[in-house]
Amino acid sequence: MNAHQPSLYWEDGAIVTTDQRVLPHTHRQLRLRTVDETIEAITTLAVRGAPAIGLAGALGVALSAQRHRRPDGSLDEPAVRADARRLAAARPTAVNLEWAVHRVLARIGEGHRAVLDEGLAMLREDAEVNGAMVRRAADLLDDLLPDRPLRLLTHCNTGRLATTAIGTALGVILELATRGRVAEVLVDETRPLLQGARLTAWELREAGVPHRVCVDSAAAAAIATGLVDCVLVGADRIAVNGDVANKIGTYGLAVAADRSQVPFLVIAPESTRDPALPTGAGITIEQRAAAEVTEFAGTPVAPAGTAVFNPAFDVTPGELITAIVSESRVQRPREAAAPPPGADLPDDG
Ligand code: MRU
Repeated sequence: MNAHQPSLYWEDGAIVTTDQRVLPHTHRQLRLRTVDETIEAITTLAVRGAPAIGLAGALGVALSAQRHRRPDGSLDEPAVRADARRLAAARPTAVNLEWAVHRVLARIGEGHRAVLDEGLAMLREDAEVNGAMVRRAADLLDDLLPDRPLRLLTHCNTGRLATTAIGTALGVILELATRGRVAEVLVDETRPLLQGARLTAWELREAGVPHRVCVDSAAAAAIATGLVDCVLVGADRIAVNGDVANKIGTYGLAVAADRSQVPFLVIAPESTRDPALPTGAGITIEQRAAAEVTEFAGTPVAPAGTAVFNPAFDVTPGELITAIVSESRVQRPREAAAPPPGADLPDDG
Protein backbone atom coordinates (compact mmCIF):
# COMPACT_ATOMS: atom_id res chain seq x y z
CA MET A 1 0.00 0.00 0.00
CA ASN A 2 1.44 3.38 -0.95
CA ALA A 3 0.35 6.83 0.19
CA HIS A 4 -2.06 7.25 -2.75
CA GLN A 5 -3.67 3.82 -2.75
CA PRO A 6 -6.92 3.35 -0.81
CA SER A 7 -6.81 0.59 1.79
CA LEU A 8 -9.87 -1.06 0.23
CA TYR A 9 -11.17 -1.10 -3.35
CA TRP A 10 -12.94 -3.26 -5.91
CA GLU A 11 -10.92 -4.82 -8.77
CA ASP A 12 -11.77 -7.54 -11.28
CA GLY A 13 -14.68 -8.98 -9.30
CA ALA A 14 -12.88 -9.02 -5.93
CA ILE A 15 -12.39 -6.82 -2.85
CA VAL A 16 -8.75 -5.79 -2.56
CA THR A 17 -7.71 -4.76 0.92
CA THR A 18 -4.60 -4.16 2.99
CA ASP A 19 -4.08 -6.90 5.59
CA GLN A 20 -4.06 -4.83 8.80
CA ARG A 21 -3.15 -7.83 10.98
CA VAL A 22 0.46 -7.79 9.81
CA LEU A 23 1.19 -4.07 9.43
CA PRO A 24 3.51 -2.23 9.88
CA HIS A 25 6.23 -4.78 9.21
CA THR A 26 4.56 -6.75 6.44
CA HIS A 27 2.64 -5.14 3.59
CA ARG A 28 0.22 -7.67 2.15
CA GLN A 29 -2.81 -7.17 -0.06
CA LEU A 30 -5.73 -9.58 0.32
CA ARG A 31 -8.01 -10.40 -2.59
CA LEU A 32 -11.40 -11.37 -1.15
CA ARG A 33 -13.44 -13.33 -3.68
CA THR A 34 -16.14 -14.89 -1.50
CA VAL A 35 -18.51 -13.91 1.28
CA ASP A 36 -16.76 -16.34 3.65
CA GLU A 37 -13.36 -14.74 2.95
CA THR A 38 -14.88 -11.30 3.53
CA ILE A 39 -16.43 -12.36 6.85
CA GLU A 40 -13.14 -13.86 7.95
CA ALA A 41 -11.26 -10.69 7.04
CA ILE A 42 -13.75 -8.64 9.12
CA THR A 43 -13.81 -10.92 12.18
CA THR A 44 -10.01 -11.30 12.32
CA LEU A 45 -9.51 -7.52 11.83
CA ALA A 46 -7.63 -7.86 8.54
CA VAL A 47 -10.17 -5.15 7.62
CA ARG A 48 -11.12 -2.99 10.58
CA GLY A 49 -12.47 0.43 11.57
CA ALA A 50 -16.19 1.19 11.36
CA PRO A 51 -16.32 2.81 7.87
CA ALA A 52 -13.98 0.22 6.34
CA ILE A 53 -15.90 -2.78 7.64
CA GLY A 54 -19.12 -1.16 6.38
CA LEU A 55 -17.66 -0.88 2.88
CA ALA A 56 -16.28 -4.42 3.02
CA GLY A 57 -19.74 -5.65 4.06
CA ALA A 58 -21.42 -3.76 1.20
CA LEU A 59 -18.98 -5.15 -1.35
CA GLY A 60 -19.37 -8.58 0.26
CA VAL A 61 -23.05 -8.43 -0.72
CA ALA A 62 -21.90 -7.58 -4.27
CA LEU A 63 -19.71 -10.72 -4.20
CA SER A 64 -22.76 -12.72 -3.16
CA ALA A 65 -24.91 -11.17 -5.90
CA GLN A 66 -22.20 -11.99 -8.44
CA ARG A 67 -22.16 -15.61 -7.29
CA HIS A 68 -25.94 -16.05 -7.09
CA ARG A 69 -26.72 -14.70 -10.55
CA ARG A 70 -28.93 -17.02 -12.62
CA PRO A 71 -28.34 -17.58 -16.37
CA ASP A 72 -31.34 -15.31 -17.13
CA GLY A 73 -29.68 -12.46 -15.20
CA SER A 74 -32.03 -12.62 -12.18
CA LEU A 75 -30.70 -13.15 -8.67
CA ASP A 76 -31.28 -15.95 -6.18
CA GLU A 77 -32.52 -13.36 -3.70
CA PRO A 78 -32.97 -15.64 -0.66
CA ALA A 79 -29.33 -16.79 -1.03
CA VAL A 80 -28.05 -13.19 -1.27
CA ARG A 81 -30.18 -12.13 1.71
CA ALA A 82 -28.81 -15.03 3.78
CA ASP A 83 -25.23 -13.96 2.94
CA ALA A 84 -26.11 -10.34 3.76
CA ARG A 85 -27.38 -11.39 7.20
CA ARG A 86 -24.10 -13.21 7.91
CA LEU A 87 -22.05 -10.22 6.72
CA ALA A 88 -24.05 -7.75 8.84
CA ALA A 89 -23.50 -9.94 11.92
CA ALA A 90 -19.73 -10.40 11.45
CA ARG A 91 -19.06 -7.76 14.15
CA PRO A 92 -21.86 -6.39 16.35
CA THR A 93 -20.79 -2.96 17.60
CA ALA A 94 -20.13 -0.73 14.56
CA VAL A 95 -23.49 0.27 13.11
CA ASN A 96 -21.78 1.13 9.79
CA LEU A 97 -21.65 -2.58 8.94
CA GLU A 98 -25.39 -3.27 9.11
CA TRP A 99 -26.16 0.17 7.62
CA ALA A 100 -23.96 -0.46 4.59
CA VAL A 101 -25.20 -4.01 4.03
CA HIS A 102 -28.84 -2.88 4.15
CA ARG A 103 -28.15 0.00 1.79
CA VAL A 104 -26.78 -2.22 -0.99
CA LEU A 105 -29.39 -4.88 -0.30
CA ALA A 106 -32.12 -2.35 -1.11
CA ARG A 107 -30.98 -2.60 -4.76
CA ILE A 108 -31.25 -6.40 -4.91
CA GLY A 109 -34.38 -6.31 -7.09
CA GLU A 110 -32.43 -4.48 -9.83
CA GLY A 111 -29.85 -7.25 -10.27
CA HIS A 112 -26.21 -7.82 -9.39
CA ARG A 113 -24.83 -4.81 -11.27
CA ALA A 114 -27.05 -2.41 -9.28
CA VAL A 115 -25.87 -3.94 -6.00
CA LEU A 116 -22.25 -3.46 -7.05
CA ASP A 117 -22.90 0.08 -8.32
CA GLU A 118 -24.35 1.01 -4.92
CA GLY A 119 -21.25 -0.36 -3.18
CA LEU A 120 -18.97 1.57 -5.54
CA ALA A 121 -20.99 4.76 -4.96
CA MET A 122 -20.47 4.26 -1.22
CA LEU A 123 -16.70 4.03 -1.76
CA ARG A 124 -16.75 7.39 -3.60
CA GLU A 125 -18.97 8.95 -0.91
CA ASP A 126 -16.62 7.76 1.84
CA ALA A 127 -13.85 9.95 0.39
CA GLU A 128 -16.14 13.01 0.16
CA VAL A 129 -17.52 12.47 3.66
CA ASN A 130 -14.02 12.08 5.13
CA GLY A 131 -12.90 15.34 3.54
CA ALA A 132 -15.93 17.29 4.76
CA MET A 133 -15.79 16.10 8.38
CA VAL A 134 -12.05 16.55 8.64
CA ARG A 135 -12.24 20.16 7.45
CA ARG A 136 -15.20 20.91 9.75
CA ALA A 137 -13.41 19.47 12.82
CA ALA A 138 -10.13 21.23 12.02
CA ASP A 139 -12.03 24.54 11.67
CA LEU A 140 -13.70 23.88 15.04
CA LEU A 141 -10.31 23.34 16.68
CA ASP A 142 -8.94 26.47 15.02
CA ASP A 143 -11.77 28.35 16.81
CA LEU A 144 -11.62 26.42 20.10
CA LEU A 145 -7.85 26.43 20.55
CA PRO A 146 -6.47 29.22 18.35
CA ASP A 147 -2.86 30.33 17.84
CA ARG A 148 -0.61 27.77 19.54
CA PRO A 149 0.64 24.50 18.06
CA LEU A 150 -1.44 21.69 19.54
CA ARG A 151 -0.49 18.59 21.51
CA LEU A 152 -3.10 16.00 20.58
CA LEU A 153 -3.89 12.56 21.93
CA THR A 154 -5.62 9.82 19.95
CA HIS A 155 -6.66 6.22 20.53
CA CYS A 156 -6.90 3.23 18.19
CA ASN A 157 -6.62 3.85 14.44
CA THR A 158 -9.00 6.15 12.63
CA GLY A 159 -6.96 6.97 9.55
CA ARG A 160 -6.88 5.84 5.95
CA LEU A 161 -6.70 2.20 7.08
CA ALA A 162 -10.01 2.53 8.93
CA THR A 163 -11.76 4.26 6.01
CA THR A 164 -10.92 4.44 2.30
CA ALA A 165 -9.69 8.05 2.34
CA ILE A 166 -8.03 10.43 4.85
CA GLY A 167 -9.85 9.03 7.89
CA THR A 168 -11.86 10.53 10.75
CA ALA A 169 -10.03 11.59 13.96
CA LEU A 170 -6.62 10.84 12.50
CA GLY A 171 -7.70 12.63 9.32
CA VAL A 172 -8.34 15.75 11.42
CA ILE A 173 -4.85 15.45 12.89
CA LEU A 174 -3.37 15.22 9.38
CA GLU A 175 -5.46 18.21 8.26
CA LEU A 176 -4.27 20.22 11.29
CA ALA A 177 -0.68 19.21 10.47
CA THR A 178 -1.04 20.62 6.95
CA ARG A 179 -2.29 23.84 8.59
CA GLY A 180 0.90 23.90 10.70
CA ARG A 181 -1.09 23.38 13.91
CA VAL A 182 0.37 20.15 15.31
CA ALA A 183 3.23 20.19 17.82
CA GLU A 184 2.97 16.50 18.73
CA VAL A 185 0.56 13.57 18.76
CA LEU A 186 0.48 11.13 21.66
CA VAL A 187 -0.66 7.77 20.28
CA ASP A 188 -2.16 5.25 22.70
CA GLU A 189 -0.75 1.84 21.83
CA THR A 190 -4.36 0.50 22.11
CA ARG A 191 -4.19 -2.88 23.80
CA PRO A 192 -4.71 -5.66 23.09
CA LEU A 193 -4.36 -5.52 19.30
CA LEU A 194 -2.14 -2.43 19.14
CA GLN A 195 -4.00 -0.49 16.47
CA GLY A 196 -2.32 2.69 17.78
CA ALA A 197 1.27 1.43 17.97
CA ARG A 198 1.11 -0.59 14.75
CA LEU A 199 -1.22 1.40 12.50
CA THR A 200 -1.59 4.99 13.71
CA ALA A 201 2.14 5.38 14.37
CA TRP A 202 2.79 4.01 10.88
CA GLU A 203 0.34 6.45 9.26
CA LEU A 204 1.78 9.41 11.20
CA ARG A 205 5.33 8.42 10.27
CA GLU A 206 4.34 8.19 6.59
CA ALA A 207 2.82 11.67 6.85
CA GLY A 208 5.83 13.09 8.72
CA VAL A 209 3.81 14.23 11.75
CA PRO A 210 5.72 14.27 15.10
CA HIS A 211 4.37 11.65 17.48
CA ARG A 212 5.15 9.42 20.44
CA VAL A 213 3.48 6.13 21.30
CA CYS A 214 2.47 5.64 24.94
CA VAL A 215 0.98 2.67 26.78
CA ASP A 216 -2.75 3.14 27.30
CA SER A 217 -2.31 3.52 31.04
CA ALA A 218 -0.01 6.55 30.52
CA ALA A 219 -2.72 8.56 28.80
CA ALA A 220 -4.60 9.75 31.91
CA ALA A 221 -1.35 10.94 33.48
CA ALA A 222 -0.39 12.77 30.28
CA ILE A 223 -3.75 14.57 30.31
CA ALA A 224 -3.58 15.35 34.05
CA THR A 225 -0.06 16.78 33.81
CA GLY A 226 -0.93 19.18 31.01
CA LEU A 227 0.72 17.37 28.08
CA VAL A 228 -2.48 17.24 26.01
CA ASP A 229 -4.54 20.13 24.54
CA CYS A 230 -7.24 17.98 22.98
CA VAL A 231 -8.28 14.32 22.69
CA LEU A 232 -9.60 13.15 19.30
CA VAL A 233 -11.21 9.76 18.71
CA GLY A 234 -13.51 8.04 16.22
CA ALA A 235 -16.70 6.09 16.89
CA ASP A 236 -18.39 2.79 16.12
CA ARG A 237 -21.97 3.66 17.10
CA ILE A 238 -23.50 6.93 18.28
CA ALA A 239 -26.82 7.06 20.13
CA VAL A 240 -29.27 9.93 19.66
CA ASN A 241 -28.27 11.55 22.99
CA GLY A 242 -24.59 11.57 21.96
CA ASP A 243 -23.39 8.49 23.88
CA VAL A 244 -20.57 6.98 21.83
CA ALA A 245 -19.25 3.43 21.50
CA ASN A 246 -15.59 3.32 20.49
CA LYS A 247 -12.45 1.25 21.10
CA ILE A 248 -12.04 -0.01 24.66
CA GLY A 249 -10.24 2.66 26.69
CA THR A 250 -12.07 5.61 25.14
CA TYR A 251 -14.31 6.06 28.20
CA GLY A 252 -11.29 6.34 30.52
CA LEU A 253 -9.77 9.01 28.28
CA ALA A 254 -13.02 10.98 28.36
CA VAL A 255 -13.14 10.84 32.18
CA ALA A 256 -9.53 12.04 32.39
CA ALA A 257 -10.13 14.81 29.84
CA ASP A 258 -13.27 15.96 31.67
CA ARG A 259 -11.43 16.17 35.00
CA SER A 260 -8.69 18.33 33.44
CA GLN A 261 -11.11 20.33 31.27
CA VAL A 262 -9.39 19.21 28.09
CA PRO A 263 -11.70 19.20 25.02
CA PHE A 264 -12.78 15.70 23.97
CA LEU A 265 -13.81 15.42 20.31
CA VAL A 266 -15.42 12.53 18.44
CA ILE A 267 -15.18 12.60 14.66
CA ALA A 268 -17.43 10.20 12.75
CA PRO A 269 -19.65 10.11 9.66
CA GLU A 270 -23.44 10.32 9.91
CA SER A 271 -23.48 6.61 8.99
CA THR A 272 -22.08 5.87 12.47
CA ARG A 273 -25.24 7.25 14.08
CA ASP A 274 -27.93 4.84 15.15
CA PRO A 275 -31.22 6.74 14.97
CA ALA A 276 -33.03 3.80 16.60
CA LEU A 277 -30.98 4.05 19.79
CA PRO A 278 -31.98 6.76 22.30
CA THR A 279 -28.93 6.16 24.57
CA GLY A 280 -25.74 4.13 24.61
CA ALA A 281 -27.21 1.65 27.11
CA GLY A 282 -28.56 -0.45 24.24
CA ILE A 283 -25.24 -0.86 22.40
CA THR A 284 -23.97 -4.43 22.02
CA ILE A 285 -20.30 -4.59 23.01
CA GLU A 286 -18.26 -7.18 21.14
CA GLN A 287 -16.38 -9.57 23.44
CA ARG A 288 -13.26 -11.04 21.86
CA ALA A 289 -11.09 -14.10 22.36
CA ALA A 290 -9.11 -14.61 25.58
CA ALA A 291 -5.89 -15.27 23.64
CA GLU A 292 -5.78 -11.60 22.57
CA VAL A 293 -5.06 -10.79 26.22
CA THR A 294 -3.28 -13.87 27.54
CA GLU A 295 -0.75 -13.90 24.68
CA PHE A 296 1.49 -11.20 23.31
CA ALA A 297 2.55 -11.75 19.69
CA GLY A 298 1.93 -15.46 20.17
CA THR A 299 3.86 -15.73 23.47
CA PRO A 300 1.79 -16.64 26.56
CA VAL A 301 1.90 -13.88 29.20
CA ALA A 302 -0.66 -15.23 31.69
CA PRO A 303 -0.98 -18.64 33.35
CA ALA A 304 -2.56 -21.20 31.05
CA GLY A 305 -6.35 -21.17 31.30
CA THR A 306 -6.61 -17.71 32.93
CA ALA A 307 -10.10 -16.29 32.55
CA VAL A 308 -10.27 -13.01 30.61
CA PHE A 309 -12.49 -9.94 30.27
CA ASN A 310 -11.87 -8.66 26.74
CA PRO A 311 -14.49 -6.17 25.53
CA ALA A 312 -13.46 -4.60 22.21
CA PHE A 313 -15.39 -1.37 22.86
CA ASP A 314 -16.80 0.81 25.63
CA VAL A 315 -19.48 3.49 25.78
CA THR A 316 -18.62 7.10 26.62
CA PRO A 317 -21.58 9.12 27.94
CA GLY A 318 -22.37 12.17 25.85
CA GLU A 319 -22.01 14.43 28.89
CA LEU A 320 -18.22 13.87 28.69
CA ILE A 321 -18.02 14.75 24.99
CA THR A 322 -17.30 18.33 23.92
CA ALA A 323 -18.37 17.80 20.31
CA ILE A 324 -19.25 15.08 17.79
CA VAL A 325 -18.28 16.26 14.33
CA SER A 326 -19.66 14.65 11.16
CA GLU A 327 -19.67 15.68 7.51
CA SER A 328 -22.83 17.72 8.05
CA ARG A 329 -22.99 18.95 11.65
CA VAL A 330 -21.45 19.54 15.05
CA GLN A 331 -23.37 18.03 17.98
CA ARG A 332 -22.43 19.22 21.48
CA PRO A 333 -23.65 16.51 23.87
CA ARG A 334 -21.92 17.96 26.95
CA GLU A 335 -23.66 21.31 26.48
CA ALA A 336 -26.99 19.57 25.88
CA ALA A 337 -26.59 17.56 29.12
CA ALA A 338 -25.51 20.56 31.23
CA PRO A 339 -27.97 21.57 33.96
CA PRO A 340 -29.72 24.90 33.41
CA PRO A 341 -27.98 27.91 35.05
CA GLY A 342 -28.63 27.99 38.79
CA ALA A 343 -29.73 24.35 38.95
CA ASP A 344 -26.72 23.44 41.09
CA LEU A 345 -27.29 26.22 43.65
CA PRO A 346 -27.83 24.84 47.18
CA ASP A 347 -31.35 24.81 48.55
CA ASP A 348 -31.82 27.71 50.94
CA GLY A 349 -35.03 26.30 52.45
O1 MRU B 1 -11.71 -3.09 16.64
P1 MRU B 1 -11.43 -2.00 15.64
O2 MRU B 1 -9.98 -1.81 15.36
O3 MRU B 1 -12.24 -2.17 14.38
O4 MRU B 1 -11.96 -0.69 16.36
C1 MRU B 1 -11.94 0.51 15.62
C2 MRU B 1 -12.32 1.71 16.43
O5 MRU B 1 -12.72 1.63 17.57
C3 MRU B 1 -12.28 3.01 15.70
O6 MRU B 1 -12.02 4.06 16.60
C4 MRU B 1 -13.64 3.28 15.03
O7 MRU B 1 -14.05 2.16 14.29
C5 MRU B 1 -13.60 4.47 14.15
S1 MRU B 1 -12.62 4.19 12.69
C6 MRU B 1 -12.71 5.60 11.74
